[in-house]
Amino acid sequence: MESVVEEIKKKLDIVVFISSFIPLKKTGRNYKSVCPFHQERTPSFVVSQDRQIWHCFGACQEGGDLIKFLMKWENITFIEALRELAEKAGIKLTKVSFDDHVWKKKERIVGINTLAAEFFEYILHKTQFGKKANEYLRSRDLDERIIKKFQLGYAPHSWDSLLKFLKKKKYGESEILDSGLMVRSERGGLYDRFRGRLIFPLKDARGNVIGFSGRVLDEDAKEAKYINTPETFLYHKRETLFGINLAKEAAKKENNIILVEGEFDVISPYQHGIQNIAAIKGSALTREQLMFLKRFTDKITLALDSDLAGEEAMKKGIEEAEILEFNVSIASFDFAKDPDEAVRKDPVKFKKALKNSLPYYDFIINISQKKNSADDPYGKKKIAEEVGVFIEKIKNPIVLSHYIKKIASILKVSEGSVEVLIRNLKRKKQQKFALPTQKKTAIEIMREVVIQKYLLSIIFQSENPYNRAEEIFKTFTIEDFSVPAFQKICQLFFKYKEKHKQFDLNNFIETLAPELRSTFDEVFLFASTEIEVKNEKIEKLVYEAKRYSLKRKITELSAFDSSDENEIKENLRLINQELTRVEKKIITL
Ligand code: CTP
Ligand code: MN
Repeated sequence: MESVVEEIKKKLDIVVFISSFIPLKKTGRNYKSVCPFHQERTPSFVVSQDRQIWHCFGACQEGGDLIKFLMKWENITFIEALRELAEKAGIKLTKVSFDDHVWKKKERIVGINTLAAEFFEYILHKTQFGKKANEYLRSRDLDERIIKKFQLGYAPHSWDSLLKFLKKKKYGESEILDSGLMVRSERGGLYDRFRGRLIFPLKDARGNVIGFSGRVLDEDAKEAKYINTPETFLYHKRETLFGINLAKEAAKKENNIILVEGEFDVISPYQHGIQNIAAIKGSALTREQLMFLKRFTDKITLALDSDLAGEEAMKKGIEEAEILEFNVSIASFDFAKDPDEAVRKDPVKFKKALKNSLPYYDFIINISQKKNSADDPYGKKKIAEEVGVFIEKIKNPIVLSHYIKKIASILKVSEGSVEVLIRNLKRKKQQKFALPTQKKTAIEIMREVVIQKYLLSIIFQSENPYNRAEEIFKTFTIEDFSVPAFQKICQLFFKYKEKHKQFDLNNFIETLAPELRSTFDEVFLFASTEIEVKNEKIEKLVYEAKRYSLKRKITELSAFDSSDENEIKENLRLINQELTRVEKKIITL
């Protein structure tokens, strides 16, 4: 039976569909628009009719099919989007039609994870192996009810107890590996990833177990304190919030979600009746998490280690939240190191700290005021600058005006002077972006990849890809690509060329492994975007790409530690010779 997804795509054309939301303009083979998912002026949102996909080459850096578009546009889940599109396409959705293979695979992994969670839970409560973990949980003041509520467990010190258990339940090695619960050893066998650790199941909003985190019991252990499921088909770190399944309803009701760092910082407050709480798990607040939260709350209260809220990664997350028009405030408490400690030490005081949380900007102003004097001119200057870099980013004019007034009044200066400062900061920032002197290497690496991607892109976008490829691969070779996926795509391209007289895009795509397809789609659309290299001569770019590759080889070889010094020296000499030739050529182009 044909999958619903395929059926929908056959009935609804992506260009027609997306055009009903935003205006698309035809450019070459593809269509273009400013991206609806972030703010921009030059269009970096591209839609391909041939491939029935879209991609944003701007801030989003993502793309997909029309289902993904609708999911993002309306902030809904896959199934919700599927339902809406099926209706639009006049397809009747029955339970049976869900046998989409992607969907099925997800279900299998959820099945494995659910069993694993039960296995860990059983070990914790019902066997002597769980004794130490149980004592540990008591030492952190957690009671039986809450331990069960979060379905905590224990992974025994064993290399294969979970593996054996899952195999007995008739799961195959390959799907067990897909769950992320196992690691493949050098000799090829599988072994349990989580061993001798306290286990926290990571669940999505509907309570499906999508992954796990495991904590050592012994503080002095040499291994990492926490390990997590790696990125899998199901588990995406950037989208996950620990505890969200239990927090969602309360967050909706209170129109506020409290975000904390770690698992214990969720569980302990929960035990004390704070239910609208979830953890970002020690990483930055991401756009994916925010988009999801936006569906049921406008307010975020951050309860992190106090210095963390000011850190670069967190600032970025908060900025993102501000773009999405969240109301972000910060709860500070100085009587404990994190919410887990705070709520156990003094729940009343902790709850008060939550209630008295300050809007993010006021929090920043407060910190600066504590450090500097608002009475002398240099203190004023310091405060204005420290606070200014944050205020400058506020998008909403009313909110911006409010803080300009506030700062002026704290510093006892005119609002006009604060406005001038903000304007200057904005100008400085623009200049910084225009003249990237620092981080040169990162930019160079980026340019190398941009050129490679562009060259690959024009091959596939041209009327005759074979001719175009011949032109490019005169100087450049497959091995010169620094990105393995690009190499792979090219290898397959040449393989295809050997077998087929005419190049057929869709036929070629069939030969790509599924995990290569999204890279291919991105590459394919790349030349349709506004990129600087577009104004440069292709031949020159080819030589430039070659130069990058040769330079990389030289660096690699120089670092090489080998018994055969002479061979390396000879190799280096040859590469240097070629580099000189390439550099001379670039000058003439
Ligand atoms: N974390 C992680 N991987 C690590 C370290 C931390 O995923 N190697 C995440 C975990 O979700 C953890 C959170 O970051 O809960 C906070 O880590 P940490 O600051 O080390 O927490 P502590 O409060 O020191 O540890 P705990 O409460 O578990 O005693
Ligand atoms: Mn802690």
